[in-house]
Amino acid sequence: MTEVQTLTVNLGSRSYPIYIGEGILGQGKLIKSHSPGRQLVVISNEVVAPLYLESLLKGINQAEIETIILPDGEQYKSIATLENIFDQLLSAHCSRDVTLIALGGGVIGDITGFAAACYQRGVNFIQVPTTLLAQVDSSVGGKTGVNHPLGKNMIGAFHQPNCVIADTGTLKTLPPRELSAGLAEVVKYGLITDQPFFLWLEKNMPRLLKLEPDSITYAIEQSCRCKAQVVAADELEQSGQRALLNLGHTFGHAIETGLGYGKWLHGEAVACGMVMAAEFSARLGWIGAAQVKKVSALLASARLPVKVPKELSADRFLELMALDKKVKDGKLRLVLLKDIGKAILTDDVDLTLLHSTITELAQTD
Ligand code: NAD
Ligand code: GLY
Repeated sequence: MTEVQTLTVNLGSRSYPIYIGEGILGQGKLIKSHSPGRQLVVISNEVVAPLYLESLLKGINQAEIETIILPDGEQYKSIATLENIFDQLLSAHCSRDVTLIALGGGVIGDITGFAAACYQRGVNFIQVPTTLLAQVDSSVGGKTGVNHPLGKNMIGAFHQPNCVIADTGTLKTLPPRELSAGLAEVVKYGLITDQPFFLWLEKNMPRLLKLEPDSITYAIEQSCRCKAQVVAADELEQSGQRALLNLGHTFGHAIETGLGYGKWLHGEAVACGMVMAAEFSARLGWIGAAQVKKVSALLASARLPVKVPKELSADRFLELMALDKKVKDGKLRLVLLKDIGKAILTDDVDLTLLHSTITELAQTD
């Protein structure tokens, strides 16, 4: 077992630690010290539970513990699943001092967090993320929610966890495509605020793909440090700082929706979206062609797609991008790059230039 690294998300009375280390999921004391009541409910899914539930339960070794196992998949991040969770919590007579434990990727984390935000007007919850994406992004910061047939993540709440326990050992069973999807979000942190981290990633990507323990722990730690700082500065996404975490996401969401959910993983779409954001920034004269090349090369080295899918026209892109949550007063807002390590949010978007940029990129082989 490696040493446990601890970071803090500073949010006053709602501050909480992020623990990072190999094998820490079975350290029951971490869960016990962040669960004020005696009732615990672990929520997981049919893929993750057979792999990790037993170790987690063994560590806690407590009588009053229930488990809820959900089907696997984004399609189950729904109001219907939420109802199923509430039925089970009520049937088990869970009171307001229950602590919900999310054991899984971002889907389980988001739905468990939202269940915790709503159940009896709010109960405690702990994140035990088991995908790289969840360890570096979704488990930190308190965004919780479910999808609606008319839009992804459209029903939700801000509800911070009591702690995050990121066991790097769980990444060994993650499918390679899911690992790469998580690496897209890791690269994002280098791009938005941390140029030295970007340079470190350029040198260390092969080690990360091999899950070399010190490198993967460092990458998760740096990513969480960046996310924690942004969340502490703008918890409820009001000042524009938290929106920087959406670099590449407006383009990426258009790809996900345009191609049909599930064709590209979220991280894959975000990777291509970050290249598009970099290209558009270059066309505005904010960064140079060499920097765009570096962004594209690093993402490609993480085995991520960097070419714009030809199936989507520029018109369709703009139509889909207009549905983004960052649109304000009908105006498209984009996160773009002033440099590697310096992202900004702008609503001054030249739509004609954006259209021609997308058209050109979709024609490039
Ligand atoms: P996911 O939760 O669907 O997990 C991906 C797949 O990997 C699933 O099949 C899952 O069962 C499986 N899996 C999980 N851990 C595993 C392990 N250790 N070994 C083997 N298989 C494992 O997807 P994700 O990428 O973790 O999360 C995506 C979700 O996160 C989306 O719903 C997205 O909206 C949400 N998200 C939320 C935030 C936020 O701030 N709350 C941020 C980013 C993404
Ligand atoms: N994943 C974006 C955010 O947490 O704000």
